[in-house]
Amino acid sequence: MTRVTMDTSSFSSFTPRELQTDRPPREPAPPTPFISFIKPQGQLWNYNRHKTHEDQPGNIPKAFLDAMSVREKVYVEEQGVALENEFDSDDHRSCHWVIYASVLTTILPAILDPRTGKLVRPRVTRTTSLPIGTLRLVPFPHSAHPRDGGIYLNGLLTNVGDPVRPRSSETVQALQPQEIQGGNRRNSLYIRDFPTTFHNGQEPYVKLGRLAVLKEYRNKGIAGQLVRAAITWMQTNYTIFNPSPSVLGFDRLGMDVTGQLPKWRGLFCIHAQEEAVKVWERYGFKVDEKMGKWWEEGIPHVGMWLRVPVGKGGHTVA
Ligand SMILES: CC(C)(COP(=O)(O)OP(=O)(O)OC[C@H]1O[C@@H](n2cnc3c(N)ncnc32)[C@H](O)[C@@H]1OP(=O)(O)O)[C@@H](O)C(=O)NCCC(=O)NCCS
Repeated sequence: MTRVTMDTSSFSSFTPRELQTDRPPREPAPPTPFISFIKPQGQLWNYNRHKTHEDQPGNIPKAFLDAMSVREKVYVEEQGVALENEFDSDDHRSCHWVIYASVLTTILPAILDPRTGKLVRPRVTRTTSLPIGTLRLVPFPHSAHPRDGGIYLNGLLTNVGDPVRPRSSETVQALQPQEIQGGNRRNSLYIRDFPTTFHNGQEPYVKLGRLAVLKEYRNKGIAGQLVRAAITWMQTNYTIFNPSPSVLGFDRLGMDVTGQLPKWRGLFCIHAQEEAVKVWERYGFKVDEKMGKWWEEGIPHVGMWLRVPVGKGGHTVA
């Protein structure tokens, strides 16, 4: 794991139009928040999704456990998602951001001389870093877009052909996400999807998700700091997930010539909880009408997209 501590004040290069408004000043963020960044390192192979972050093997990176502590509080305790469905197979290949607040705790109170009122011993305090928010970025490729009306549990579609009634748990096990391998692209790592309002079905995109901020720290711009950190990082490292034919081989990539190689061109997708659409709109994301609405872990979701400029010849917001 690479753990980088960053000064969040440096995340200023991405400013969608939606953030440049005449809003009244908001409550200030907690003092000196900082963000940790975790690159995908495959160190999560033995993470036990049936147990909480406090009860995991010793090799799991501390910053990832911190991310899970926030996700468990927000998604499992607050929103009722099953603990075993909170960690998923995308976690090990994702980048994660965790934001911390410095919390001052009094360990020993100050002591005053009862007769003179003079200070005998000053208050003893300790500053601890509390994880208060998290976000992850899943690189391509992805499973196909969810089905309109679909009911998904642990990433699996449970109601094929029946948009309202979930099927039994045995059926859930038997079904796979609707992956459509690209035509004659044998062994392709890339999925040909159905076209939507903002996605042609083929362009590689990265997916932001698992955005969560502890209740006590909401409405202070914490989510905004995380989203901007992830977008700025992708803008800076825009070639990082592009496949290398010299490493993987053209055959495995299902390509004949370099010109066909999938390249990330600034496209972000999210599967947003319907209730959080307004939050994402603030960062420039737009609802994709053609993706409809589906349910993940019982929570209604919609698709949203954002395109940011990257490198030379980048595009602007879709
Ligand atoms: C959604 C969430 C991450 C926002 O975190 P946050 O740190 O409070 O967000 P920010 O302070 O950066 O931005 C909050 C802005 O969005 C608005 N907002 C926050 N939650 C909202 C909601 N559920 N519905 C509508 N607007 C909301 C706030 O009013 C604020 O707008 P303002 O600046 O105009 O006042 C947090 O509420 C959360 O963890 N919710 C539970 C998990 C969740 O729903 N995650 C999103 C999954 S897609």
